[in-house]
Amino acid sequence: MDKLLIKGGHKLKGTVNISGFKNAAVALVPATILTEETCIIENLPNISDVKDLGDMLRNLGASVLQNQKDVMEIDTSNMKECFADFDSAKNLRASYYFLGAGLGRFKKAKVAYPGGCSIGSRPIDQHIKGFEALGAKVTVDHGVITVEAEKLVGADIYMDVVSVGATINIMLAAVMAEGTTVIDNAAKEPHIVDVANFLNCMGANVRGAGTDVIKIKGVSKLNGCRHAVIPDQIEAGTYMIAAAATKGNVLINNVIPKHLESITAKLREMDVDVIESDDSIRVSVTKPFKNVSIKTLVYPGFPTDLQQPMSSLLAIAEGTGIITETIFEGRFKHVAELNRMGANIRTEGRIAVIEGVKELMGAKVSATDLRAGAALIVAGLIAKGETQIDNMQYVYRGYHEIVEKLTELGAEIRSVK
Ligand code: UD1
Repeated sequence: MDKLLIKGGHKLKGTVNISGFKNAAVALVPATILTEETCIIENLPNISDVKDLGDMLRNLGASVLQNQKDVMEIDTSNMKECFADFDSAKNLRASYYFLGAGLGRFKKAKVAYPGGCSIGSRPIDQHIKGFEALGAKVTVDHGVITVEAEKLVGADIYMDVVSVGATINIMLAAVMAEGTTVIDNAAKEPHIVDVANFLNCMGANVRGAGTDVIKIKGVSKLNGCRHAVIPDQIEAGTYMIAAAATKGNVLINNVIPKHLESITAKLREMDVDVIESDDSIRVSVTKPFKNVSIKTLVYPGFPTDLQQPMSSLLAIAEGTGIITETIFEGRFKHVAELNRMGANIRTEGRIAVIEGVKELMGAKVSATDLRAGAALIVAGLIAKGETQIDNMQYVYRGYHEIVEKLTELGAEIRSVK
């Protein structure tokens, strides 16, 4: 179990460089299964989810070279099938992309029911609906999902819920299907566009990514390509929130400001100063924070992944704030830990009511999931005294060198095994 010790009270100052987007990277690595040629993926974040996906590919016979920390050279030509290792798959949400990619290349894939953060029931019925529409048979037996098809034929697929994972998975399965696939009510998140760009660079014909209708004309074969992952919207948002919470002054570099508009707008509503440039954002604080209400929504709304870190900032803002979580029903597990640190937050179902307090106090707390861990780090940075966060392995799944980056910004933070 990995722990983190933070001595709070230091204002974050300086510049932080944002890494490649976790949620894009974890789709791009499995997407390399779709070609027998070599793919080079650059600007990969150094996080355990990416490492685990690389290991899963190696276990399936692929060559995965990582001569530089942020670059993977992947050659899946030796892969004969896509039956992913049970233990790795069940620890990781993104293992579901082995289904779409394996189906696309081998017309068959077998993967353990995906794991990932415990933030709600997280069904995959929309993924299954998409695979079946393309002509695949899907069976679930003893926790293992098998998808197989004689051939894949393009189809019109209407998503009953807007799902990032299902949209990407259907794109992966459809790029080499016969004819045209139309995904209606598709997710529009930035990483959907990044995956579509990667597939097009491989020779696919995907149009409309970033809107709610994606059209995919099937091609017979994909080639290798070189692609750099887009900057991590959620990592950038987390540093924006941490800079504001510590009343610091931080330049957040290597971002796409457009992807951060919902966070920028909320911070400005709170009276935080946010200045946007072409590929950076400066966050500083000169006035007391006002509390605000936040509703998580699909992109371009406020991302559910930043709701948890944001609640640590609202915990010390003047007045009452309300968070409504509309995406995942179990995403308030961090609240009990924040209250242990002196926050005053009540939850009922999908709503959290936050009465701002003057300060938080260091305490022993535990990360229950990836973004809950990020929320506790923000809280620890502002709390009086020392905070110990247990279960940091969740955080290392998604934040590239977070301890080093925060240290560089002036935080007193140390990881302990
Ligand atoms: C992805 C992200 C996660 C982010 C989430 C929402 C990855 C690896 N993870 O998760 O960080 O919080 O998007 O932006 O990219 N749903 C169904 N049926 C399905 C699929 C989803 O009902 O088949 C529901 C989910 O329970 C949830 C909502 O749709 O309520 C959105 O889920 P989805 O966008 O699929 O999230 P993930 O892909 O799991």
